[in-house]
This record gives sequence, C-alpha cells and structure tokens, in this order.
Amino acid sequence: MIELVRTMDPEIIARLVQIETEAFGQGGLNVWHLEPLIRHGRVYVYRLHNEIVGLVHYMLDWDRPQKAYMVGVSISKELRGQGIGAKLLKESFDALAKETIEEVELTVDPNNLVAVKLYESKLGFLVTDFKQDEYGEGEARLIMKLVLRSSSTEQ
Ligand SMILES: CC(C)(COP(=O)(O)OP(=O)(O)OC[C@H]1O[C@@H](n2cnc3c(N)ncnc32)[C@H](O)[C@@H]1OP(=O)(O)O)[C@@H](O)C(=O)NCCC(=O)NCCS
Repeated sequence: MIELVRTMDPEIIARLVQIETEAFGQGGLNVWHLEPLIRHGRVYVYRLHNEIVGLVHYMLDWDRPQKAYMVGVSISKELRGQGIGAKLLKESFDALAKETIEEVELTVDPNNLVAVKLYESKLGFLVTDFKQDEYGEGEARLIMKLVLRSSSTEQ
C-alpha cells in the first residue's frame, strides 16, 4: 500500500507536486523542497490502482534524532474522506517505528478540523503546545505529538 520514494523520478515528482499544490496552493512542496526530503528524510506515497493518491513526508529532529517531524501530508482532493489519509499515516508510523524513530511531531492549523480530528481521535496524537502567529499574524499552529514506542533507554 505505501511505498518509500528513494529516487528523483520525474514522473513521481510531478505527481507529488500536483497533489501538494492541490492541497496547499503556493505553500505546497515543489521539486526543490522534495529533493532533500527524498534523499535525506522519508517520503512515503500511497498508491491506488497503481496511481499515487497521497504522500507524507518526514525529517529527523536535529536535537532529538529519535523524533521524526512530519512536514506534511496530503491526499488527492477527490479521494479525501475515504480513510486513505489514516491508512497512509498509520503505515508510515509502522515503517518509522521499524527504524529508530520513537515519536512523531507535527504542527497543524487549529482551524483544519479534518486534520486535527484525524490526528487526535483516529491516530492518538496529543496536543503539546499552541503557537500564536507561528507562521505570521493570525497563523497559529497546534503542536501535536505521538509516541510510537518507548525510548530504548527507558526499557
Ligand atoms: C487531512 C487529510 C490528509 C486527511 O486525509 P483523508 O484521506 O481525507 O482522511 P481520512 O479519510 O483517513 O479521514 C480520517 C478521519 O478524518 C476525519 N475526516 C475526514 N474527512 C472529513 C470530512 N470531510 N469532514 C470531517 N471529518 C473528516 C474523520 O474523523 C475521519 O475519520 P472517520 O473515517 O472515522 O470518519 C486530507 O483531507 C488532505 O489532504 N487535506 C488537505 C491537506 C491537509 O490539510 N493536510 C494536513 C495538514 S499538514
């Protein structure tokens, strides 16, 4: 179902940029943003009938390398609300947990009720902070965290 993107395949990149632009307009990732995430972070895609219909991307936290920061997630517009986002995220967490990752952090617009509900109610994220004007005036962010597994030093 999910697939880790490892190469800068132009066809795949074009599709990812298309989904990102559809979801975030100018704020979506372009090829310049995707390249470091593909080469140095983790970019997972979800395929339906062999077509890419969603993506999620992560970077490592410099101060806490057991933490993956979720840069963003988006599902093709016409396929939203069918459980694909939840599946993509859950499967990506399983993949991250098989590596060295113990927790995932993200930020989300508090007005993005679909995303907040998905993260909180369906995936078990907890709100850990609220940052007013984080992305400029009136652009607040909720900080959310999900523990995937306890720290190896705590076991
Ligand atoms: C947020 C997003 C990734 C969720 O993916 P999705 O495939 O639509 O989500 P799912 O179908 O897996 O929904 C999971 C849950 O979200 C909620 N949800 C989804 N669509 C909803 C809608 N239209 N209205 C209300 N709640 C909704 C429900 O709680 C749902 O759980 P349920 O199936 O038990 O009802 C997707 O909507 C998207 O790409 N949005 C635009 C980009 C974005 O905002 N990304 C997140 C910020 S980084």
